[in-house]
Parts: sequence; C-alpha cells; structure tokens
Amino acid sequence: MSTNTTDNARKVTTRRLVEMKQRGERISMLTAYDYSSAKIIDGAGIDVILVGDSASNVMAGNITTLPITLDQMIYHAKSVMKGTKRALVVVDLPFGSYQGNSKEALASAIRIMKESHAEAVKMEGGAEIRESIERILCAGIPVMGHLGLTPQSINKFGTYNVRAREQEEADKLIEDALMLQEIGCFAIVLEKIPAELARKVAQRLTIPIIGIGAGGGVDGQVLVMHDMLGINQGFSPRFLRRYADLASVMNDAVGRYIEDVKSGDFPSESESY
Ligand code: KIV
Repeated sequence: MSTNTTDNARKVTTRRLVEMKQRGERISMLTAYDYSSAKIIDGAGIDVILVGDSASNVMAGNITTLPITLDQMIYHAKSVMKGTKRALVVVDLPFGSYQGNSKEALASAIRIMKESHAEAVKMEGGAEIRESIERILCAGIPVMGHLGLTPQSINKFGTYNVRAREQEEADKLIEDALMLQEIGCFAIVLEKIPAELARKVAQRLTIPIIGIGAGGGVDGQVLVMHDMLGINQGFSPRFLRRYADLASVMNDAVGRYIEDVKSGDFPSESESY
C-alpha cells in the first residue's frame, strides 16, 4: 500500500509545483529510467519523476554520468513516459548535448520533448549556460536548473565532496539561483551543499528548490531510486536514506529459483499446460 497521503490524482505540472511551494507542501521526486519502475512510483504518488543521467551509473554501469548519450536518454524517457500518468516527467540533458552552444542546446531539448513526450528538461550549471537555458525557455520548454555538485563537471571538481562551503562559491550559487529564477526556470535542484545555504536559497526564491544532500530546509527532496531502494549497494553517502534492501530480496528470490530449477521442483504440474 502506498504511504502517500496526497490523494490528489490531478496531473502534476510545473505550475502546480510552484503552487505546492506557496502552500508549504513538500515535493517528492525520484529517478526512473524504465516503464515498469515509472509505473510503480507514479502509482505510489510521486510528484516528479526525473529521467536522470544517473542512468549512466545505475543502468549502464559507468563510473560517471558523462558517457550517456542523447539517444540513450530519449530511449529511457520514452519508456518512463509510457508508465507515467500523474507525475511531472523531467529529463536530464546529457553531457555534451548543450554545453557547445545555445543552438545545439535547443536542438537537444527539442529532440527530448518531441521524441519522448516528456514535460521538462534539467540542465546543470548557472551563468555559464544562461544563453542556452534562455533559448530553450523561449521555445516553450520548461527548464529545471541544477546547482551545487553538478556531476557532469566531475573532472573539473575532481571530487564528489560537498560544494559551496567557501563563501565565494556560496555567493556564486545564490547569484546563479536568482538568475535561473529571473530568466524563467520553474525549479532548481541543489545537490550536496550545506543545509543552511540551501535553506537560505529556498527562502529567498519563489520557485521550488529540490534538494539532494542539501538538508531539510528546502521545498522538496530527490533521490536516485536504485540507491533508496537498496538495488545499488555500492553508494552510501550520508544523505542517502535506504527504504528497502531490494538487492537482498532479489538475491534471495533468484537463489530459491535456482534451487527449484536444479531440484526439478519448478515447474510443478499446476504451472504446466
Ligand atoms: O541524474 C540524476 O539522478 C540527478 C539527481 C541526482 C538529481 O541529477
């Protein structure tokens, strides 16, 4: 049974997320990359599904998010859209699909919207990619910003440690967040930054701030589904709360299946034609 207390079956839109912030209603967001899991988390009442480029890690087994391609993101987004009725579906623009120039960025965003039927895109970065975000917004495509730890820039940072602990970086993050709101982004993800800084940003901005490793003072939370369900066991940052141990559940089920096949117990007569 779902533990969701919101019995509101109305489709979630970018506008509705802003209304939720105004009402002080927290926003729940999880990643999904395929039809079956999108259907489950949408049915449980999740507000936003992110087709994250973390698919590069948890689906394809890459060390970083950099290798995933636009075609692969569109494949995942199409599958998620087929399993989703209520949640707002946001798709990450992958590394290399928007950093070149704003024309290329717009072409990538249009491909995602046209081919997957998703409802918004997410882009990592602030002032450096302003022109690309503005061009995409001008085309009527909603954009979710992403500041703080931006995994597509891991080779520049050299570490996945907490960002914006220093005043200079914190000031730039606040400036970038204000700019993203001013140009028309509908929400911003803040990843792995001090809770106090995230709270300050959420209080100052009128658009929703969704945190991951950014404390409880923001307007919503996002986690990678494979991490919070315990499918991906090799990642245990402090901010991650595990709600299930699906790796053990799957390991146990597969073990019993193997035993039954080897012993001849499966299939039984009632499982045969
Ligand atoms: O790709 C992803 O899963 C993300 C979340 C960590 C916010 O960007």
